[in-house]
Amino acid sequence: MNPADVTYLPETPAHDAEIEHINEEAFGPGRFARAAYKIREGGPHERELSFVAVHRGCVIASVRMTRIAAGEGRALLLGPLAVRPAFKNLGIGRRLVAVALEAAEKAGAAAVILVGDEAYYGPLGFVRVPRGQVSMPRPVDLDRILAVEIEPGAVARFKGEVCHADHAKVLDGGLVQP
Ligand SMILES: CC(C)(COP(=O)(O)OP(=O)(O)OC[C@H]1O[C@@H](n2cnc3c(N)ncnc32)[C@H](O)[C@@H]1OP(=O)(O)O)[C@@H](O)C(=O)NCCC(=O)NCCS
Repeated sequence: MNPADVTYLPETPAHDAEIEHINEEAFGPGRFARAAYKIREGGPHERELSFVAVHRGCVIASVRMTRIAAGEGRALLLGPLAVRPAFKNLGIGRRLVAVALEAAEKAGAAAVILVGDEAYYGPLGFVRVPRGQVSMPRPVDLDRILAVEIEPGAVARFKGEVCHADHAKVLDGGLVQP
């Protein structure tokens, strides 16, 4: 496969069915029990900050971004990230993460957070959030909560139980940064 044949596009509703299939293939039914899934259930994801990789008209990989909150902190939750098996190890996952991070920065996000393998995401700029600083609505390995800080101090402000930012809006009575 020629990497030049893969295009990276912002997600649209037309991609939904293929993305659902890719996530089902990558994570199976267990995905519904994950902490990050529970947070994402709290509201919509950000289509303009979520991306697909397309090859010959088919979606072959996807990354989504969702606005989240913890205490005073606001961030984007990166995930799920999944690449179709036939297209793994070609740099597509790394490229999708880079595209999503660039878009997050341009959109003025304070930080990007995820639950994932440090071995994969560390070289892409993610570092561990200090153990115990945040909790999630379902059990999660705290050493897998990783962050890229965009605005200085944003990760330190991101403290306590993580929820979808739309839920925080309700709690704050509308006093919310995006
Ligand atoms: C993880 C995933 C997104 C990586 O996408 P990809 O396009 O295959 O990855 P890339 O080509 O960008 O990077 C490949 C490199 O990452 C490494 N890698 C892949 N998954 C890894 C992991 N979980 N931990 C550490 N390294 C990993 C590969 O061994 C490879 O290393 P190399 O460059 O030294 O050969 C893809 O394998 C996938 O969809 N997996 C199933 C879903 C999943 O686990 N998503 C991540 C959720 S946190």
